[in-house]
Amino acid sequence: MREEFLQIKNEALSLILAAEDRAELEEIKVKFLGKNGKFTQLLRTIPKLPLNVRPELGKLANEVKTTIEDTFAQRALELSREGESQEGEQIDVTLPGKKPTVGHLHPQTHVLSDIINIFKGIGFKVASGPEIESDYYNFEALNFAKDHPARDTQQTLMLSKLKDKKGEPLILRTQTSNMQIRIMEKLKPPFRVIVPGKVYRYEQVDASHGFEFMQVEGFAVDRNIAMTDLFGTIDYFFKQFYGPSTQVRFTCHNFPFVEPGLEAFVTCSVCKGKGCSFCKRSGFVEMLGAGMIHPNVLRNVNIDSKRWQGFAFGFGMSRMVTLKYQMDDLRLLTNPDLRILEQF
Ligand code: PHE
Repeated sequence: MREEFLQIKNEALSLILAAEDRAELEEIKVKFLGKNGKFTQLLRTIPKLPLNVRPELGKLANEVKTTIEDTFAQRALELSREGESQEGEQIDVTLPGKKPTVGHLHPQTHVLSDIINIFKGIGFKVASGPEIESDYYNFEALNFAKDHPARDTQQTLMLSKLKDKKGEPLILRTQTSNMQIRIMEKLKPPFRVIVPGKVYRYEQVDASHGFEFMQVEGFAVDRNIAMTDLFGTIDYFFKQFYGPSTQVRFTCHNFPFVEPGLEAFVTCSVCKGKGCSFCKRSGFVEMLGAGMIHPNVLRNVNIDSKRWQGFAFGFGMSRMVTLKYQMDDLRLLTNPDLRILEQF
Protein backbone atom coordinates (compact mmCIF):
# COMPACT_ATOMS: atom_id res chain seq x y z
CA MET A 1 0.00 0.00 0.00
CA ARG A 2 2.81 2.36 0.94
CA GLU A 3 4.50 1.65 -2.38
CA GLU A 4 1.26 2.27 -4.23
CA PHE A 5 0.88 5.75 -2.68
CA LEU A 6 4.47 6.63 -3.56
CA GLN A 7 4.00 5.34 -7.08
CA ILE A 8 0.85 7.45 -7.51
CA LYS A 9 2.75 10.47 -6.19
CA ASN A 10 5.62 10.00 -8.64
CA GLU A 11 3.35 9.39 -11.58
CA ALA A 12 1.20 12.43 -10.75
CA LEU A 13 4.20 14.73 -10.28
CA SER A 14 5.88 13.76 -13.53
CA LEU A 15 2.64 14.27 -15.47
CA ILE A 16 1.93 17.61 -13.79
CA LEU A 17 5.41 18.93 -14.49
CA ALA A 18 5.16 17.89 -18.14
CA ALA A 19 1.70 19.39 -18.64
CA GLU A 20 1.73 22.03 -21.41
CA ASP A 21 -1.48 23.87 -20.73
CA ARG A 22 -4.22 24.49 -18.25
CA ALA A 23 -6.62 21.93 -19.76
CA GLU A 24 -4.07 19.14 -19.60
CA LEU A 25 -3.34 20.06 -16.02
CA GLU A 26 -7.03 19.87 -15.07
CA GLU A 27 -7.29 16.44 -16.68
CA ILE A 28 -4.38 15.20 -14.61
CA LYS A 29 -5.97 16.55 -11.46
CA VAL A 30 -9.20 14.67 -12.17
CA LYS A 31 -7.24 11.55 -13.05
CA PHE A 32 -5.63 11.47 -9.60
CA LEU A 33 -7.65 13.54 -7.16
CA GLY A 34 -11.13 13.41 -8.78
CA LYS A 35 -13.98 11.30 -7.35
CA ASN A 36 -12.78 8.23 -9.22
CA GLY A 37 -9.18 9.34 -9.38
CA LYS A 38 -6.38 6.91 -8.65
CA PHE A 39 -5.44 8.61 -5.39
CA THR A 40 -9.03 8.89 -4.17
CA GLN A 41 -9.68 5.23 -4.86
CA LEU A 42 -6.62 4.15 -2.95
CA LEU A 43 -7.56 6.43 -0.08
CA ARG A 44 -10.93 4.74 0.16
CA THR A 45 -9.24 1.42 0.90
CA ILE A 46 -7.57 2.69 4.08
CA PRO A 47 -10.58 2.20 6.41
CA LYS A 48 -10.65 -1.45 5.40
CA LEU A 49 -7.11 -2.03 6.63
CA PRO A 50 -6.10 -3.30 10.08
CA LEU A 51 -6.22 -0.58 12.71
CA ASN A 52 -2.52 -0.59 13.50
CA VAL A 53 -1.41 0.39 9.98
CA ARG A 54 -4.11 2.99 9.33
CA PRO A 55 -2.53 6.01 11.11
CA GLU A 56 0.78 5.63 9.32
CA LEU A 57 -0.85 5.21 5.93
CA GLY A 58 -3.29 8.06 6.62
CA LYS A 59 -0.35 10.36 7.32
CA LEU A 60 1.42 9.24 4.15
CA ALA A 61 -1.74 9.73 2.10
CA ASN A 62 -2.04 13.32 3.40
CA GLU A 63 1.57 14.05 2.49
CA VAL A 64 1.12 12.64 -0.99
CA LYS A 65 -2.06 14.69 -1.49
CA THR A 66 -0.45 17.97 -0.37
CA THR A 67 2.60 17.34 -2.54
CA ILE A 68 0.39 16.68 -5.57
CA GLU A 69 -1.74 19.77 -4.85
CA ASP A 70 1.29 22.02 -4.27
CA THR A 71 2.98 20.87 -7.47
CA PHE A 72 -0.28 21.35 -9.31
CA ALA A 73 -0.61 24.93 -8.03
CA GLN A 74 3.00 25.69 -8.87
CA ARG A 75 2.69 24.40 -12.43
CA ALA A 76 -0.63 26.22 -12.92
CA LEU A 77 1.09 29.51 -11.95
CA GLU A 78 3.99 28.87 -14.34
CA LEU A 79 1.62 28.13 -17.20
CA SER A 80 -0.38 31.30 -16.63
CA ARG A 81 2.84 33.41 -16.62
CA GLU A 82 4.09 31.82 -19.85
CA GLY A 83 0.66 32.45 -21.38
CA GLU A 84 0.77 36.10 -20.37
CA SER A 85 4.15 36.78 -21.94
CA GLN A 86 3.20 34.96 -25.15
CA GLU A 87 -0.06 36.83 -25.36
CA GLY A 88 1.80 40.10 -24.74
CA GLU A 89 4.03 39.51 -27.73
CA GLN A 90 1.18 38.52 -29.95
CA ILE A 91 -1.54 40.99 -29.20
CA ASP A 92 -0.20 44.13 -27.54
CA VAL A 93 -0.92 46.46 -30.44
CA THR A 94 -0.42 49.50 -28.22
CA LEU A 95 3.37 49.02 -28.01
CA PRO A 96 5.12 51.74 -30.07
CA GLY A 97 6.60 50.34 -33.29
CA LYS A 98 10.23 50.56 -34.33
CA LYS A 99 10.93 53.81 -36.20
CA PRO A 100 12.19 53.16 -39.74
CA THR A 101 15.39 55.09 -40.44
CA VAL A 102 14.70 57.92 -42.87
CA GLY A 103 17.38 59.73 -44.86
CA HIS A 104 17.73 63.50 -45.04
CA LEU A 105 19.38 66.13 -47.16
CA HIS A 106 23.16 66.53 -47.08
CA PRO A 107 24.36 69.80 -45.48
CA GLN A 108 25.77 70.84 -48.86
CA THR A 109 22.32 70.40 -50.43
CA HIS A 110 20.73 72.53 -47.69
CA VAL A 111 23.25 75.28 -48.34
CA LEU A 112 22.81 75.07 -52.10
CA SER A 113 19.06 75.47 -51.84
CA ASP A 114 19.53 78.50 -49.53
CA ILE A 115 21.91 80.04 -52.07
CA ILE A 116 19.53 79.40 -54.96
CA ASN A 117 16.61 80.93 -53.05
CA ILE A 118 18.53 84.09 -52.24
CA PHE A 119 19.54 84.64 -55.86
CA LYS A 120 16.12 83.71 -57.23
CA GLY A 121 14.71 86.40 -54.94
CA ILE A 122 16.69 89.05 -56.84
CA GLY A 123 15.84 87.83 -60.32
CA PHE A 124 18.56 85.27 -61.11
CA LYS A 125 17.73 82.17 -63.16
CA VAL A 126 19.44 78.83 -62.39
CA ALA A 127 21.31 76.87 -65.08
CA SER A 128 23.70 73.92 -65.37
CA GLY A 129 26.11 72.63 -68.00
CA PRO A 130 28.82 70.11 -68.95
CA GLU A 131 31.65 69.05 -66.66
CA ILE A 132 33.63 67.58 -69.58
CA GLU A 133 34.65 70.67 -71.46
CA SER A 134 36.80 71.94 -74.31
CA ASP A 135 39.74 74.26 -73.83
CA TYR A 136 37.75 76.90 -75.72
CA TYR A 137 34.91 77.22 -73.17
CA ASN A 138 37.03 76.65 -70.08
CA PHE A 139 39.88 79.00 -71.09
CA GLU A 140 40.16 80.50 -74.55
CA ALA A 141 36.79 82.26 -74.80
CA LEU A 142 37.34 83.47 -71.24
CA ASN A 143 40.36 85.48 -72.42
CA PHE A 144 43.04 83.03 -71.23
CA ALA A 145 45.62 83.14 -74.02
CA LYS A 146 47.21 79.76 -74.85
CA ASP A 147 50.38 80.49 -72.89
CA HIS A 148 48.81 82.69 -70.21
CA PRO A 149 50.31 81.91 -66.77
CA ALA A 150 46.83 82.08 -65.16
CA ARG A 151 46.16 78.64 -66.68
CA ASP A 152 48.78 77.19 -64.34
CA THR A 153 46.78 78.24 -61.30
CA GLN A 154 43.90 76.02 -62.36
CA GLN A 155 45.68 72.62 -62.19
CA THR A 156 43.79 71.26 -65.20
CA LEU A 157 42.94 67.57 -65.53
CA MET A 158 43.19 66.55 -69.19
CA LEU A 159 41.21 63.61 -70.59
CA SER A 160 43.74 61.65 -72.64
CA LYS A 161 41.27 59.72 -74.80
CA LEU A 162 38.49 62.28 -75.47
CA LYS A 163 39.02 64.99 -78.10
CA ASP A 164 36.89 67.95 -79.16
CA LYS A 165 35.87 68.76 -82.78
CA LYS A 166 39.23 70.41 -83.48
CA GLY A 167 41.02 67.26 -82.26
CA GLU A 168 42.17 68.96 -79.08
CA PRO A 169 41.98 66.99 -75.82
CA LEU A 170 38.91 67.58 -73.69
CA ILE A 171 39.37 68.49 -70.05
CA LEU A 172 37.43 68.32 -66.81
CA ARG A 173 36.25 71.88 -66.28
CA THR A 174 38.32 73.72 -63.69
CA GLN A 175 35.70 76.42 -63.09
CA THR A 176 32.00 77.01 -63.67
CA SER A 177 32.97 80.16 -65.63
CA ASN A 178 32.75 77.96 -68.75
CA MET A 179 29.01 78.51 -68.39
CA GLN A 180 29.38 82.27 -68.80
CA ILE A 181 30.31 81.60 -72.42
CA ARG A 182 27.84 78.79 -73.07
CA ILE A 183 24.93 80.82 -71.70
CA MET A 184 25.90 84.20 -73.17
CA GLU A 185 26.21 82.54 -76.59
CA LYS A 186 22.53 81.63 -76.35
CA LEU A 187 20.77 84.39 -74.37
CA LYS A 188 20.12 87.94 -75.46
CA PRO A 189 20.82 90.52 -72.72
CA PRO A 190 19.55 91.57 -70.23
CA PHE A 191 19.91 88.44 -68.06
CA ARG A 192 20.98 87.31 -64.60
CA VAL A 193 22.01 83.68 -64.12
CA ILE A 194 23.60 81.48 -61.46
CA VAL A 195 25.21 78.14 -62.27
CA PRO A 196 25.99 75.73 -59.44
CA GLY A 197 28.14 72.80 -60.55
CA LYS A 198 31.09 70.50 -60.01
CA VAL A 199 34.61 71.43 -61.03
CA TYR A 200 37.88 69.47 -60.97
CA ARG A 201 41.49 70.38 -60.31
CA TYR A 202 44.66 68.36 -59.88
CA GLU A 203 45.05 69.28 -56.19
CA GLN A 204 46.70 67.53 -53.30
CA VAL A 205 43.73 66.75 -51.04
CA ASP A 206 43.94 68.29 -47.56
CA ALA A 207 41.70 70.00 -44.99
CA SER A 208 41.02 72.93 -47.31
CA HIS A 209 41.51 71.46 -50.82
CA GLY A 210 39.67 68.78 -52.78
CA PHE A 211 40.31 67.62 -56.36
CA GLU A 212 36.56 67.67 -57.08
CA PHE A 213 34.37 70.42 -55.63
CA MET A 214 31.28 72.52 -56.15
CA GLN A 215 31.30 76.11 -57.35
CA VAL A 216 28.52 78.58 -57.91
CA GLU A 217 29.00 80.97 -60.81
CA GLY A 218 26.84 84.06 -61.17
CA PHE A 219 26.67 86.79 -63.82
CA ALA A 220 24.43 89.60 -64.95
CA VAL A 221 24.47 91.57 -68.20
CA ASP A 222 22.37 94.70 -68.64
CA ARG A 223 22.64 98.34 -69.66
CA ASN A 224 24.61 100.64 -67.33
CA ILE A 225 25.81 97.88 -65.02
CA ALA A 226 28.52 99.25 -62.75
CA MET A 227 30.93 97.96 -60.07
CA THR A 228 28.48 99.20 -57.43
CA ASP A 229 25.87 96.71 -58.73
CA LEU A 230 28.42 93.95 -58.19
CA PHE A 231 29.33 95.21 -54.69
CA GLY A 232 25.66 95.55 -53.76
CA THR A 233 24.73 92.07 -55.02
CA ILE A 234 27.61 90.33 -53.22
CA ASP A 235 27.05 92.28 -50.01
CA TYR A 236 23.30 91.51 -50.11
CA PHE A 237 23.95 87.81 -50.74
CA PHE A 238 26.36 87.31 -47.84
CA LYS A 239 24.21 89.32 -45.42
CA GLN A 240 21.21 87.16 -46.36
CA PHE A 241 23.21 83.96 -46.02
CA TYR A 242 25.33 84.60 -42.90
CA GLY A 243 23.22 87.26 -41.18
CA PRO A 244 22.87 91.08 -41.28
CA SER A 245 25.99 91.79 -39.19
CA THR A 246 28.22 90.11 -41.83
CA GLN A 247 30.79 92.45 -43.36
CA VAL A 248 32.22 92.05 -46.84
CA ARG A 249 35.61 93.40 -47.96
CA PHE A 250 36.89 93.59 -51.52
CA THR A 251 40.49 93.55 -52.74
CA CYS A 252 41.95 93.71 -56.25
CA HIS A 253 42.71 90.44 -57.98
CA ASN A 254 43.49 89.27 -61.48
CA PHE A 255 41.29 86.92 -63.48
CA PRO A 256 41.70 87.15 -67.28
CA PHE A 257 37.93 87.23 -67.93
CA VAL A 258 37.11 90.22 -65.70
CA GLU A 259 38.42 93.79 -65.63
CA PRO A 260 38.71 95.08 -62.99
CA GLY A 261 38.89 91.84 -61.06
CA LEU A 262 38.53 91.41 -57.32
CA GLU A 263 38.22 89.01 -54.44
CA ALA A 264 35.65 89.26 -51.65
CA PHE A 265 36.32 88.42 -48.00
CA VAL A 266 33.58 87.84 -45.44
CA THR A 267 33.57 88.17 -41.62
CA CYS A 268 34.74 84.86 -40.14
CA SER A 269 31.68 83.23 -38.59
CA VAL A 270 33.78 81.09 -36.27
CA CYS A 271 35.22 84.03 -34.29
CA LYS A 272 32.74 86.69 -35.50
CA GLY A 273 35.62 88.74 -36.90
CA LYS A 274 37.81 88.70 -33.76
CA GLY A 275 40.52 86.53 -35.36
CA CYS A 276 41.04 82.78 -34.92
CA SER A 277 42.99 79.90 -36.45
CA PHE A 278 40.24 79.30 -39.03
CA CYS A 279 40.66 82.79 -40.55
CA LYS A 280 44.41 82.91 -39.85
CA ARG A 281 43.77 85.65 -37.24
CA SER A 282 42.50 88.10 -39.86
CA GLY A 283 38.82 88.01 -38.84
CA PHE A 284 37.94 87.61 -42.53
CA VAL A 285 37.76 84.60 -44.85
CA GLU A 286 38.33 84.68 -48.60
CA MET A 287 35.10 83.66 -50.27
CA LEU A 288 34.83 84.59 -53.90
CA GLY A 289 36.34 85.89 -57.11
CA ALA A 290 34.48 88.50 -59.14
CA GLY A 291 34.75 91.45 -61.48
CA MET A 292 33.29 93.30 -64.46
CA ILE A 293 33.03 91.00 -67.48
CA HIS A 294 36.01 91.72 -69.78
CA PRO A 295 35.05 93.35 -73.14
CA ASN A 296 37.01 90.56 -74.91
CA VAL A 297 34.69 87.98 -73.35
CA LEU A 298 31.59 89.89 -74.46
CA ARG A 299 33.09 90.14 -77.96
CA ASN A 300 33.63 86.36 -78.04
CA VAL A 301 29.90 85.84 -77.51
CA ASN A 302 28.84 88.63 -79.89
CA ILE A 303 27.55 91.01 -77.24
CA ASP A 304 28.31 94.66 -77.97
CA SER A 305 30.37 95.84 -74.97
CA LYS A 306 29.59 99.49 -75.77
CA ARG A 307 25.87 98.88 -75.20
CA TRP A 308 25.97 96.16 -72.57
CA GLN A 309 28.02 95.66 -69.44
CA GLY A 310 28.09 92.82 -66.97
CA PHE A 311 29.55 91.56 -63.74
CA ALA A 312 30.47 87.99 -62.84
CA PHE A 313 31.38 86.18 -59.65
CA GLY A 314 32.23 82.63 -58.62
CA PHE A 315 32.65 80.98 -55.25
CA GLY A 316 33.32 77.53 -53.79
CA MET A 317 30.41 75.80 -52.11
CA SER A 318 32.43 73.87 -49.51
CA ARG A 319 33.78 77.08 -48.03
CA MET A 320 30.22 78.37 -47.65
CA VAL A 321 29.23 75.14 -45.89
CA THR A 322 32.26 74.78 -43.62
CA LEU A 323 32.01 78.39 -42.53
CA LYS A 324 28.28 78.11 -41.89
CA TYR A 325 28.59 74.97 -39.76
CA GLN A 326 32.06 75.82 -38.43
CA MET A 327 33.76 72.69 -39.72
CA ASP A 328 37.53 72.79 -39.85
CA ASP A 329 38.01 70.16 -42.57
CA LEU A 330 36.09 70.10 -45.84
CA ARG A 331 36.76 66.37 -46.27
CA LEU A 332 34.02 65.89 -43.66
CA LEU A 333 31.56 66.86 -46.39
CA THR A 334 32.51 64.05 -48.75
CA ASN A 335 33.11 61.42 -46.09
CA PRO A 336 30.02 59.22 -45.67
CA ASP A 337 30.41 59.22 -41.88
CA LEU A 338 26.95 59.05 -40.32
CA ARG A 339 28.18 60.48 -37.01
CA ILE A 340 28.80 63.74 -38.92
CA LEU A 341 25.88 63.61 -41.36
CA GLU A 342 23.27 62.81 -38.71
CA GLN A 343 23.96 66.15 -37.06
CA PHE A 344 22.25 68.04 -39.89
N1 PHE B 1 36.31 81.13 -61.96
C1 PHE B 1 37.08 81.77 -60.94
C2 PHE B 1 37.80 80.69 -60.11
O1 PHE B 1 37.42 79.54 -60.19
C3 PHE B 1 36.21 82.62 -60.03
C4 PHE B 1 35.60 83.80 -60.73
C5 PHE B 1 34.36 83.72 -61.33
C6 PHE B 1 36.30 85.01 -60.81
C7 PHE B 1 33.79 84.82 -61.96
C8 PHE B 1 35.75 86.11 -61.42
C9 PHE B 1 34.50 86.01 -61.99
O2 PHE B 1 38.74 80.98 -59.40
